[in-house]
Amino acid sequence: MCGIIGILGSEPAAPRIIEALKRLEYRGYDSAGIATLDADGAMQRRRAPGKLKNLDEALASDPVTGDQGIGHTRWATHGLPTQANAHPHVSGPVAVVHNGIIENFRELRHELEAKGHTFQTETDTETIAHLIAANMKSGMSEIEAVQAGLGRLEGAFALAFLFEGRPDMLIGARKGSPLAIGIGEGEMFLGSDALAVAPFTNRVVYLEEGDWCVLSRESYRIFDKKNAEVTRPVTLVQGAGAAVEKGNYRHFMQKEIFEQPDSTARTIGAYVNVLKQTVELPGEGAAAIDWSEITSLQMIACGTAHYATRVAEYWFEQVAGLPVKTDIASEFRYREPALPKTGGLALFVSQSGETADTLAALRYCKEKGLKTAAVVNVPTSSIAREADLVLPTLAGPEIGVASTKAFTAQLSALAAVAIAAGRARGTMSRDAEIRLSRALTELPRLISTTLLLDESIARLARDIAKATDVIYLGRGVHYPIALEGALKLKEISYIHAEGYASGELKHGPIALIDEETPVVFVAPFDGLFDKSLSNLQEVAARRGEVILISDAAGIRAAADAPAHRIELPDCDPFIAPILYSVPVQLLAYHVAVEKGTDVDQPRNLAKSVTVE
Ligand code: F6R
Repeated sequence: MCGIIGILGSEPAAPRIIEALKRLEYRGYDSAGIATLDADGAMQRRRAPGKLKNLDEALASDPVTGDQGIGHTRWATHGLPTQANAHPHVSGPVAVVHNGIIENFRELRHELEAKGHTFQTETDTETIAHLIAANMKSGMSEIEAVQAGLGRLEGAFALAFLFEGRPDMLIGARKGSPLAIGIGEGEMFLGSDALAVAPFTNRVVYLEEGDWCVLSRESYRIFDKKNAEVTRPVTLVQGAGAAVEKGNYRHFMQKEIFEQPDSTARTIGAYVNVLKQTVELPGEGAAAIDWSEITSLQMIACGTAHYATRVAEYWFEQVAGLPVKTDIASEFRYREPALPKTGGLALFVSQSGETADTLAALRYCKEKGLKTAAVVNVPTSSIAREADLVLPTLAGPEIGVASTKAFTAQLSALAAVAIAAGRARGTMSRDAEIRLSRALTELPRLISTTLLLDESIARLARDIAKATDVIYLGRGVHYPIALEGALKLKEISYIHAEGYASGELKHGPIALIDEETPVVFVAPFDGLFDKSLSNLQEVAARRGEVILISDAAGIRAAADAPAHRIELPDCDPFIAPILYSVPVQLLAYHVAVEKGTDVDQPRNLAKSVTVE
């Protein structure tokens, strides 16, 4: 969630810390802060509530010096997003930035208060600074103090420590939240991810669970959770250095919606052999999964990625005859699921590859002896590194907090995997494989055509922006798209929205319908259309404002029952849920623009959810 950067450099640290924090702002943006050591080793600290630009302004009017420091961009867990609660937190000679949650901070705080420590903030993180400072006061060195302190912390954390009077030292630690060392020329860095250190170096060492490290400008030492010194591989990270720009688009989200012809084409191109009209799974270890031996598939993810698994559930069952269960990662391991002893595959879906609940569910399944696979967008992420098999999405960096191109890339990859599974399991004829692979390769072109609806959807959005509640309905494989449409709208426009299965309407939600409530039907003219049409008419009969998203045949069949129509190009029903994601994204986007919200960084959210 929060973003961390640490620099032991050879040039002024503050501008570099700000540059890194800009790249980390997707992790949280409710306050930011920086601490550096000046030429005499004295600590300087500046913090500001709100977006990073506030910290930038604070530094412009009250600069700090020094070529070594730590920085942080925060997503509040404990305490309001005020200046006082912003990191770094300081006690005596110790400054610390933290990503994660310290679960036993209350008892530690009581203990430290009893020893005379005075706390300035409501945060769990301040406890860490006091704990380490107390250890140092008792005579321990910085390294001993951190080592002893880490043993007392419960919860999840990535930490970076800076010490007054120690101009060639940073200490980092990782448990449950990622942290990487960047190795420069006579410089050393710490970062929440490779993106943070990419402007300075492409040589990165990922700390493993429980690792902690001591850095100087010339060297680094890594210790594991038992405090034994260990070596970890150096990875060369390609391409992360390029700044991701908005180009001519007003928002990253808009750019990412419009990138979808390319991002789906790239992803599908990695899975579908167009000449042979067949699917060949990419990635190391793909051959290790024998789909004919799999007896059940458990798919686990959060948020939008979870909705991708809900669509894929239909595909795996229909195309591959594979029994599927989908779960929200935050629920999965706490309900003590009955997992198959043999033949089970657990498949995780994540854009960031760092979502704490999804990662914890992956580890849980591995512990239980299940084979694991992950559909993931960030190849260097924890989930990508820990899953037995990585099924990549090639959406490219997604910056807008609301997921768009990652979702359609996840769906594209999952559709291809379902085809591969169907072929391996003998549930699909060669003709069907050709049809479905062809349908997938046509998707990018159909998305391009659908994007031409942008202006008409923007006009419709002016009307929807006045609503206080919006309902999304879909049947079958389009039900999860209704859920996703509602999620997209509420997260960026702050309008309350709910997604339901169309058939469920009369079992309760129909009570919400009145002339003030727009109802968006996601309903191509497929085998379930007639049933959706009945539901649509039930809404229209109660003066609900119906918006029908369908194709030419569906629009014709609905005649004048809908108040608004969004007509998509005809497509194979197999890929329809991917295509129909695009108008619901555009609708949410334009409603948010109409309402003037912060589209790319909506309130209270963060792109990468690394706390439970
Ligand atoms: C919604 C959204 C979130 C993420 C969820 C999982 O637009 O982006 O619901 O889908 O936080 O994130 P990842 O895919 O990174 O695991």
